[in-house]
Amino acid sequence: MASRVGVVGAGYVGLTSAACLARLGRHVTCVDNDRHKIDRLHDGEVTLVEPGLSELVAEGIAGRRLRFTTDLAALADVEVALLCLPTPMGPGGVADLGAFETVLADLGRVLRPGCVVVTKSTVPMGTARRIPGLLGRSDLPVVGNPEFLREGHAVADFLRPDRIVIGADAGQRAAADRVAALYAATGAPVLHTDPATAEVTKYASNAFLAVKASYANVLADLCERVGADVTQVTRAMGFDDRIGPDFLAAGPGWGGSCLPKDAGALLWAAEAAGVDFALVRDAVKTNTRQHSMVVRKVRCAVTGSAAGSLVGVRIGVLGLAFKAGTGDLRASPAVAVVEALARQGALISAHDPGVSADDRVGIGAGVRVVDDPYRVAEKAMALVVLTEWPEFRDLDWRMLAAAAEQLVVVDTRNLLDQEILAQAGFRHIGIGTGGGR
Ligand code: UGA
Repeated sequence: MASRVGVVGAGYVGLTSAACLARLGRHVTCVDNDRHKIDRLHDGEVTLVEPGLSELVAEGIAGRRLRFTTDLAALADVEVALLCLPTPMGPGGVADLGAFETVLADLGRVLRPGCVVVTKSTVPMGTARRIPGLLGRSDLPVVGNPEFLREGHAVADFLRPDRIVIGADAGQRAAADRVAALYAATGAPVLHTDPATAEVTKYASNAFLAVKASYANVLADLCERVGADVTQVTRAMGFDDRIGPDFLAAGPGWGGSCLPKDAGALLWAAEAAGVDFALVRDAVKTNTRQHSMVVRKVRCAVTGSAAGSLVGVRIGVLGLAFKAGTGDLRASPAVAVVEALARQGALISAHDPGVSADDRVGIGAGVRVVDDPYRVAEKAMALVVLTEWPEFRDLDWRMLAAAAEQLVVVDTRNLLDQEILAQAGFRHIGIGTGGGR
């Protein structure tokens, strides 16, 4: 059993993996080239919004099973090295492997013979085969082990995964078993595959989720046109075990740092392989259309017409993050909608429990971010809910009504209690729930 594990990258995947493996009894060294981040981690300070992670990091440091450094050379004696580096979408949808390739070249000079190199980063299909060349070594077994951690649930997903996928060549079974052993305590089923299958599995899973969510969004449009309620339709669908209830919530579109990137990368790879993956392409198109649909809905709600002007109109926004439970604004549909409204001349005040007024990186000009949710309602001609934070349900809607100019809420997550809103005097416009197209 490998007891010394190295983790490269202290983002939400790397840091969660490092802290959880320390909890599972390994001695973990986590390396990141961001000195500021490492200095804070030394002090047990975790800046990511990830439930349970701070506690696990503190526990690992106190138990001397978890340490942080900027020096890759600290991985000289590890038996397994996990790569948890960003692979952002580059031009044309191809993953940008710049950071990944640089680290591999450096690792090749550091790791001891026989150390298992594990790819947790989402890498394009075919990358596993290139890794020995990038390492400049042929004595290091290479294993693919895609992660399926959701932001905001990463610790729980790591400690109780629904499956572990391990991709290795037939001759590398011992190395694959060493990686599987890292997860033995979780009791999760382990699927051994070849490297390419593991790579495709990751993209296929995220792209499938994207298709499922887009399906719900198109269904919402249909429901509005025929007077049905999409929340009830998807609830009823979800009872069918073959369909399942998850990822069927209609909303402003899917986003975040993974789904859009991975759907794009799958499309790119499919095209390169001569496969027309129209289903995924359509899900991506639907997603972009969904942002425009929300903007049109807001315009109708405010002006009574799809062609009305938003110039100088105050709009209060609740939610900026791509989903509740995180402050992550990357590829957030909420940000896309807010920026489109601002471009059309609307004056936006926005609040998100995960985003502080000082920390508005990623949001364009013309949007005021406030820490107090009640301030978004000041003189607002409409309130727009864009992220499904449960606390929005519990706001004092009478207080919001007192501050607003016009009492209408566009609830793009079908989140709010319509009775409470009606009592406060608000008109409620949902997604796919009839009315307000
Ligand atoms: C996603 C996958 O769920 C993880 O399994 C995967 O490991 C991760 O990407 C990754 O590749 O690292 P995450 O990006 O944290 O995790 O976000 P999700 O919870 O999947 O949500 C993605 C988007 O879909 C959000 O914008 C969310 O609001 C939207 N969504 C979700 C819907 O529009 N409808 C739904 O019913 C569910």
